Amino acid sequence: MKIQRPRGTQDFLPQEMAKRRFIENKMRKTVESWGYQEIQTPIFESLDLFTLRSGETILDQSYIFDDKGGRKLILRPELTEPVTRLYVEKLQAEPKPLKLYYFSNCFRYERPQKGRFREFWQFGVELIGSDRPESEVEVIALASSVLDTIGLKGDLHVGHLGALRALMGDLSDEQKNSVIRFIDKKDNEGLRTYLEEIGATSLEENIRALTESEDIKEAREMVGDVPALERLEDISDMLDIYGISHKIDFSVARGLEYYTGMVFEIYAEGLGTENQIGGGGSYRLAHLFGGKDTPSTGFAFGFDRVVLALGDIQLPQQTKVMIVSTRELRDWASRKVAPRFVQHFHTEVDLMSRDINGQLSHANAIGATHAVIVGDKELQKGEEFVTLKDMKTGEQEMLTIEEVINRIRLMDI
Ligand code: HAM
Repeated sequence: MKIQRPRGTQDFLPQEMAKRRFIENKMRKTVESWGYQEIQTPIFESLDLFTLRSGETILDQSYIFDDKGGRKLILRPELTEPVTRLYVEKLQAEPKPLKLYYFSNCFRYERPQKGRFREFWQFGVELIGSDRPESEVEVIALASSVLDTIGLKGDLHVGHLGALRALMGDLSDEQKNSVIRFIDKKDNEGLRTYLEEIGATSLEENIRALTESEDIKEAREMVGDVPALERLEDISDMLDIYGISHKIDFSVARGLEYYTGMVFEIYAEGLGTENQIGGGGSYRLAHLFGGKDTPSTGFAFGFDRVVLALGDIQLPQQTKVMIVSTRELRDWASRKVAPRFVQHFHTEVDLMSRDINGQLSHANAIGATHAVIVGDKELQKGEEFVTLKDMKTGEQEMLTIEEVINRIRLMDI
């Protein structure tokens, strides 16, 4: 019986894995240098954590199950709520703002297609405990800096849910959330039907006008001088000072329902419909999980989409050393020579009892950059002697082990 991996999941072969780690490490370095510390939370959580504020869409897409003790559990569909739970449990007394980051897998039962998976990875940050526009700007600037570091161009759209909410005036919170959901899905038909249902068709034209507007002044004419627009203006001005190009976009509504203010999304080219490589915004969740009311801002990149958007990238060539020896000297080469190299480089020895030529052609096949030959000629000169062969040029030279290590190290830089 041939068993296939579940729909919407991915296997990563060594080359792909090397590429993912290369990108991941660059992203980690950037957020760490901005002062963010890594955390990890469990793959599954109590369902309650996500029923309070995530919203219908995300719950409909979640893997929810009972464990053998009858507890209702959920495979995490995202990480902002787990991070807030952890913050409330263990980190509330830490100095503010608290800067955390994560790189973890998430699970959503969505229809798989290019860039849309059922298991995918998020690389995200949460800045907890500040309500200042500077913090919101820092989070957006960090997202932009991460993209710069990995060499990906993103199209940044910034909005504020307060503007939409103000426009909807007397509707209940639940109705406002439903409208925001239709806007997030860009489902104009659904929105029209819903507005008819709740007797608010007069809003349709204004919602359309606001979500199509890219201008804060224009928005002011529609919703008045509300604090949301003042905040968005501050943020936009500061982003200009940082030199971060962005578009004001009131149609950024986000699929999760916990956002309370500024929201943003980043899109990349070449991904088709799933072009949103990252998104985030400001939210308040801590008080819902038993903590103090705490303003926070964060974002998450869809790591798989980032990797897809980057396409083929040139990875730095890794030094790979193959220790090549005669059959008689194999034990000597493995026990005495290889351990000296493995301390510095990726080093392999012959495990197939091949002759010298066989080992050299294997070294070629696995992309070794250097072969270190241990033979009678070398041993006759002294126990420290080996021959270094540059696999690219074919040049050979007999040197001491120490000299070879130094020579390869110099080439490595
Ligand atoms: P989100 O927009 O739901 O936000 O997800 C963040 C990113 O994850 C998306 O922009 C997208 O790139 C990626 N993503 C989402 N679903 C999938 C999927 N099925 N397959 C592949 N990639 C996907 C959040 O999850 C928030 N927690 C972000 C945040 C952090 N807000 C504040 N802090």
